[in-house]
Amino acid sequence: MNIKKSWAEPYKIKMVELIKMTTPAQRKKAMKDAGYNTFLLKSEDVYIDLLTDSGTNAMSDEQWAGMMRGDEAYAGSKNFYHLERVIQEVYGYKYLVPTHQGRGAENILSQIMIKKGDIVPGNMYFTTTRLHQELAGGIFADVIIDEAHNSESEHPFKGDIDLNKVEALIKKHGAKKIPYICVATTVNMAGGQPISLKNLKELRKLTKQHGIKIMLDMTRIAENAYFIQQNEKGYAEVPIVKIVREICNQTDGATMSGKKDACVNIGGFLALNDWDTFEEARNLIVVYEGLHTYGGMAGRDMEALAIGLLESVDDHHMNARVGQVHYLGQQMMQYNIPIVQPIGGHGIFVDAKKFLPHLTQDQFPAQTLAAEVYLDSGIRTMERGIVSAGRKANGENYYPKLELVRFTLPRRVYTQAHMDVIAESTARVFEKRNKIKGMKMIYEPKYLRFFQARFEKL
Ligand code: F0G
Repeated sequence: MNIKKSWAEPYKIKMVELIKMTTPAQRKKAMKDAGYNTFLLKSEDVYIDLLTDSGTNAMSDEQWAGMMRGDEAYAGSKNFYHLERVIQEVYGYKYLVPTHQGRGAENILSQIMIKKGDIVPGNMYFTTTRLHQELAGGIFADVIIDEAHNSESEHPFKGDIDLNKVEALIKKHGAKKIPYICVATTVNMAGGQPISLKNLKELRKLTKQHGIKIMLDMTRIAENAYFIQQNEKGYAEVPIVKIVREICNQTDGATMSGKKDACVNIGGFLALNDWDTFEEARNLIVVYEGLHTYGGMAGRDMEALAIGLLESVDDHHMNARVGQVHYLGQQMMQYNIPIVQPIGGHGIFVDAKKFLPHLTQDQFPAQTLAAEVYLDSGIRTMERGIVSAGRKANGENYYPKLELVRFTLPRRVYTQAHMDVIAESTARVFEKRNKIKGMKMIYEPKYLRFFQARFEKL
């Protein structure tokens, strides 16, 4: 007999949080009140919350114990020095600038390194990252491989950078106009797709020749390392912690949202190798975040973050984490639901253009689909399409090729039975897809509109 070898969670459950079940009538009212934007729903009206994997993870007993060891001194908290030591040991960066979360680090980095008119290439954009680059006067340039924009391409490393695109930018604008290349591990907007070490090393070689820095968005670096271990030649036997270090070694610094990989509810940092940049960052941090030894986090937050970072690079943890995402993806595929291939690290991305082919992009297919899934079952997902992409500096809409709904899995929170319920609900919506009508936007905020925009059904 060929007995399969399943993954299982390397933890057991010590405490549970009860969730509310809702009726169709309650959901109909809640969705209408929320302007058909899942960000505006009250969390108590949500059954299974797949809005994000950011700050929604379950901390371990060790992390909770660490919270009790919080040293709430204004300056020089011992938790800061613990966090600094972990970052130096795990990632190898020399200097730590703590921030309240990822975008705090993005703000500081962008202000220091970007001058007006600079070009900032990146492997696809992330909403807050690009906005901070633009607010600092930079112009974002997408240099990800073309396969990343195609939801059907099975390329195992869709987060890879097209070096020809980088070379063309250098040729056109000159290396002096490019302060750094922003490399994300894994690429969120592409569906949680990883970058390979081979590609990153080639990029390092190219940027060295031109004196261009590489700044990592290391928000989901451990998940990226897992894909390298599974799919890149030569890494099958290398532990994730070593792969993580090898990724960081190719770069000059990093911004981090601790709310993902590290399983904390709040926290982040900027990590740097260059003393001068660090000095400037330490100056700015006191303006925007807090003193340079807490940067917007309480002592207890820094302690939980330090412990969570160590837990995130454990092979068994990551095997179960991505294993659960893949289980959900397999269930969806059984119902022929169109999802981004290959299955990524932090969630399932449903292709709304294929799901609702009768809607134009201006009728917000992904926003519509997210609302329909909530109406069916109380499951909350997130639009990652034209609404998230926002407008260019000249006011025109970006029309991203990918129009997706993200079913994001918080770490260590839901069970396999929840995964079945999620796939079944999506399948029910899929069955009646032809009857679903689109939406129009009736309120549009100026920045990051997806958070607060309101819609009406057509
Ligand atoms: N970079 C990436 C790749 C992210 O996914 C996020 C946040 C950030 C930076 C910003 O970090 O939220 O701590 O300020 N992503 C969340 C999400 C919001 O739902 O994907 P932050």
